[in-house]
Amino acid sequence: MSNSEKQRILTGITTSGTPHIGNYVGAIRPAIEASRNSDNLSFYFLADFHALIKCQDPALVHQSTLEIAASWLALGLDPENVMFYRQSDIPQIGELNWLLNCVCAKGLMNRAHAYKGAVDANGEAGEDPDFGISMGLFSYPVLMAADIVLFGANKVPVGKDQIQHVEMARDMAQRFNHLYASKKQPLLTLPQYQVDEDVPVLQGLDGRKMSKSYGNTIPLFLGEKQLRKHINKIKTNLLEPGEAKDPDTSTVFQIWRAFASQTQQQEMRQAFADGIGWGDAKKELFELINTELKEPRERYNELMANPSDIEVVLQQGAAKAQAYSAPLLEKLRSAVGIRKLA
Ligand code: TRP
Repeated sequence: MSNSEKQRILTGITTSGTPHIGNYVGAIRPAIEASRNSDNLSFYFLADFHALIKCQDPALVHQSTLEIAASWLALGLDPENVMFYRQSDIPQIGELNWLLNCVCAKGLMNRAHAYKGAVDANGEAGEDPDFGISMGLFSYPVLMAADIVLFGANKVPVGKDQIQHVEMARDMAQRFNHLYASKKQPLLTLPQYQVDEDVPVLQGLDGRKMSKSYGNTIPLFLGEKQLRKHINKIKTNLLEPGEAKDPDTSTVFQIWRAFASQTQQQEMRQAFADGIGWGDAKKELFELINTELKEPRERYNELMANPSDIEVVLQQGAAKAQAYSAPLLEKLRSAVGIRKLA
């Protein structure tokens, strides 16, 4: 199958934190698996422009970009096989962002969850509705739409919180086509969101959803000692060894399931019924996770020690990606009336 016939899968990863095992099982692992399917052409990128919306700590944005790139490569993403690039290396994204701003209704942005949530929080705190809200936050879905439609993405794998943004990208693409293209030859592909119900949403150390904002994560590439320490911090109940435990309400089991084979899941269910002690269950959980992450961790540490190697990969990725984005943007410019005079 030639690349032009393949289904285009595209997703961005905001570079404002350190990847944790929840990101791994919920997004990175399935994305790398999907990229190995030769029916797909995958575009995976580091959304560093998006990071600036919520993080104005330059050192953190920079470090996170390095860590996320190193993580994906260490986990086996093959940059030969996919487009792996940094958003800020693709100048056409910024240009398309503007073109879309000019077709996007302000009212549509008023309805975006992230913005509305911030306005509501201000209301509850008795603040001015606009307090602390940047234009970046307000128009965040426009930039995201530019990321998506610039590469003619068909499928956009996202978490549930991002569904609305993909639908907004679809609206903007439709509006652009309506204004500037014929029905028979649309300029922009309408993207669809893809929410994978089979991938686990991991619980964190305290039993709530694992999330950087709750401070309850297990970072992906901790050293063994630290990994063990974090696993030991997972909240459990007070049942003693020998007492039967309920796997379905246990964070230890929930994380176990995300790393275990069917057989291992059955075995651990049985062990819970037989009253395995929390200490032992956590020891086994450490072994299971460590087995899966040991080799990638070594590659990760090597990559982190050689940022210039990663930079080369990202530059090559940006060049490859622009083979798609540059010709499309030329067409779009021309369609809106921005072209040479003669
Ligand atoms: N906003 C997304 C998030 O926070 C990241 C992102 C940026 C993205 N651009 C994208 C995801 C384009 C999918 C497609 O998770």
